[in-house]
Amino acid sequence: MTTQPLRNLPADLDPHGLPKHVAVIMDGNGRWATRQGLPRIAGHRRGARVLKDLLRCCKDWGVGALTAYAFSTENWRRPTEEVDFLMVLFERLLRKELSEMHREGVRIRFLGDLSALHSSLRREIDRSMAETAGNSAIEFNVAINYGSRSEITRACREVAEKIHQGALSPDAITEDLLARHLYTTGSCDPDLLIRTSGEQRLSNFLLWQLAYTEMYFTDALWPEFDRAEFYKALLAFQGRNRRFGAVPEAVKEVLTA
Ligand code: IPE
Ligand code: IPE
Ligand code: MG
Repeated sequence: MTTQPLRNLPADLDPHGLPKHVAVIMDGNGRWATRQGLPRIAGHRRGARVLKDLLRCCKDWGVGALTAYAFSTENWRRPTEEVDFLMVLFERLLRKELSEMHREGVRIRFLGDLSALHSSLRREIDRSMAETAGNSAIEFNVAINYGSRSEITRACREVAEKIHQGALSPDAITEDLLARHLYTTGSCDPDLLIRTSGEQRLSNFLLWQLAYTEMYFTDALWPEFDRAEFYKALLAFQGRNRRFGAVPEAVKEVLTA
């Protein structure tokens, strides 16, 4: 991994044109491990290290928020041993990395239905969110037992409940109101989505929030996604022409509206 040579933002990246928020679908851990002749779990272990370095890289380079897809609502379909390993890995990582993340000013938040997780993992999750709630160096969202359709369904249910109680009128349902009922409330939408391993699909990730996000797909497997790969993704992002439905001259007005 090339952590050292790229400590600072590479000179050909425009520091004013960076994404404020990057989302990643960390895919390809299993294939990476298989190619090395290792069990799939070795890929997850390596993938966790890569995520840690990407978080530090985002902080070093001035990207304000990172959201990572760690476990989907569909991932329960995997063999029990793999699911169990992942859950233990999440818990162990939180225990091990929390104080350093806190020291570095990371504000961590978990997105998803956390009620289905083991109570010892939930305890670490709650502790990490409470401890880092006042930090502001970088926002780090980890999606665990996250599914976008279930997130939107849950938001609808909450809004319907308020209407049922007479606390809200149907006319008051706006895009902003719905967004405030999503797990991501308070975060800006991602500017850039990266998916590794050559797959080009969303796999039920942030369907609402990615409406105008730039997508970047790479064949690199997640355990290979180092700073040099991230640099390539940012370079591609800076070459994009974002319009938000407007004509190029009017984009500034759209963004400041
Ligand atoms: C992504 O890598 C990690 C999780 C989904 C938890 P995969 O485990 O999906 O790796 P592949 O796609 O099988 O190679
Ligand atoms: C998406 O990867 C979920 C995460 C990265 C956590 P998957 O490997 O589970 O997605 P599919 O099954 O290929 O769509
Ligand atoms: Mg996969």
